[in-house]
Amino acid sequence: MVLTEPEDPAAFKQFEAAGWSRQADSYEQLTGRVTAAAAEALLDAARVGPGLRVLDVASGSGHVAAAAAARRAEPVGIDISQGMLDAARDAHPSLEFMRGDAEALSFGDGSFGAVVGGFVLNHVPRPERAVSEAARVLTRDGCAAFSVWDRPERTRLMGIMSDAIDRAGLDRAVGVPPGPDGFRFADEGAFTRLLENAGLEQVRIGTLHLSVGLQSADELWNGLLGGTVRAAAAVLAASEEDRRRVRKAFDELAAGYETEDGGLALPAVVKIGSGVAQ
Ligand SMILES: C[S@@+](CC[C@H](N)C(=O)[O-])C[C@H]1O[C@@H](n2cnc3c(N)ncnc32)[C@H](O)[C@@H]1O
Repeated sequence: MVLTEPEDPAAFKQFEAAGWSRQADSYEQLTGRVTAAAAEALLDAARVGPGLRVLDVASGSGHVAAAAAARRAEPVGIDISQGMLDAARDAHPSLEFMRGDAEALSFGDGSFGAVVGGFVLNHVPRPERAVSEAARVLTRDGCAAFSVWDRPERTRLMGIMSDAIDRAGLDRAVGVPPGPDGFRFADEGAFTRLLENAGLEQVRIGTLHLSVGLQSADELWNGLLGGTVRAAAAVLAASEEDRRRVRKAFDELAAGYETEDGGLALPAVVKIGSGVAQ
């Protein structure tokens, strides 16, 4: 069920935290590799440079924090999932990652020169709170930037899974607690309002077009089942027979993205919204 604000935000967060911990070891197979390709654009949008103290909200496996450190900024990552924190600490032992909730940051007002949130707004029950918290912990003139996926019609990398589930006649809401529409902020007006309502100024929405190369439909199928939470839930909960029907529809859809060398190339479109704290 799609809601503006879930009746039980704690249950939604628990579902996300547990789901991402389960996926932490397989995240890099596909999703992490694609989100990493959007890290530099996210840091540019937040004007991250040398010496800046940066909060990476929902740091996942740590790509964005690592890219910030490579710019000689001083990142701190927070994430709600213990599995993701473990993965980030393993991959980047010299960086700081802490357990935390994007909707209730444990930092004082004005603690960071920039806040970045890669693909988190579609995973929190109340994104308005997450953006308000980002604005609160920013210094005056500090910049916040968040990335979200564009709609499945354009981000075919994920869209072919939801279309395959629909084609197979399965209910995509099975196994998922009620929560907000994950693609709400693909709409630039909605994304702009979200940032402005949190008090951010000079709001901009940029678009990044990626083409994701894969060797086979198998790689895509396994990558999505091992690297997403809500998108994979209905398939993971399905019977063997239902799963086979989804897979058949998925293979038919994937065939439309075959390349000359027998691999696949799927578009993924990212919206990056940014604004400046006053
Ligand atoms: C799609 S991953 C993105 C990870 C990383 N930012 C990237 O770009 O690869 C979503 C992340 O959001 C985290 N997350 C979900 N809900 C959260 C919350 N309420 N507070 C902090 N992190 C959260 C998950 O644990 C997961 O690591």
